[in-house]
Amino acid sequence: MKKTFKKALGIFGAALALSLVLAGCSSQSQDNSVKKIQDKKTLVVGTSADYAPFEFPIMQNGSKKIVGYDMMIAQKIADDLGVKLKIENTEFPSLISELKNNKVDLIMAGMVSTSQRKKVVAFSKSYYTVQNVLLVQKKDADKFNSVADVKDKQIGAQQTTTQESIAKSQLKGSNVVTEGVLTSLTTELSQGKLSGVVVENEIANNYIKRYPDKYAIAKVKLTTPKDQRSINIAVRKSDKALLKRVNQQLTKLEKNGQLDKMFKQAQELQLKSGK
Ligand code: ARG
Repeated sequence: MKKTFKKALGIFGAALALSLVLAGCSSQSQDNSVKKIQDKKTLVVGTSADYAPFEFPIMQNGSKKIVGYDMMIAQKIADDLGVKLKIENTEFPSLISELKNNKVDLIMAGMVSTSQRKKVVAFSKSYYTVQNVLLVQKKDADKFNSVADVKDKQIGAQQTTTQESIAKSQLKGSNVVTEGVLTSLTTELSQGKLSGVVVENEIANNYIKRYPDKYAIAKVKLTTPKDQRSINIAVRKSDKALLKRVNQQLTKLEKNGQLDKMFKQAQELQLKSGK
């Protein structure tokens, strides 16, 4: 009697040990990117808040808050994961290394999914599409009609962005000036230190709506390469579970019309904010 009990216990123990080993294996092969965020109860999103209506600072009850279309989507993703949202504001050129070094969980910074970047990080599905234009001073609206007109002129573009590569490859003969923060360039444009700044159409439209007497879009045509048109959320390549969750959320927000709504809300917020 005793013997059989012992034997049964032994078999049970072995089975238990085996199932533990198997469970260990499967949890190791499945990535725990979502669980990690839920364990720390916070989703950390990296951005560069110089990019209205995607991300920009406003003053709220005496303190600075980063808001915008990307931040609204980020909040929805955090809500879906059941965690708090923390926004890490930094200059655009450092964002990819911040993601790779685990300083942030996602990048949401109006970032397009270029083939170069795809070598280093993974991207969600697209949630906005852009084209590039040359933003100039309103008084110069009719001065820059072709590439020949920007010869020897100072043209701004944010460092490491697709605008930098477009400016350098398409506005040949101009002097391309780069800075880490876009708003420094647009301020220099308004002061006449630069003749133009290459930006995406939504960003230009925003400046024009906000400051109708200061800025305009030049007639010179810029081409936006195919892989530089779609704005996506960047995720570490290893974080497959997180990427899946992000994509599910984007699909949901797209289907229920929230994406469009939030974009308009972000534009209105920016016009009201006085920033
Ligand atoms: N879409 C461009 C790129 O991905 C520029 C993005 C700049 N974003 C920003 N938050 N300043 O290169």
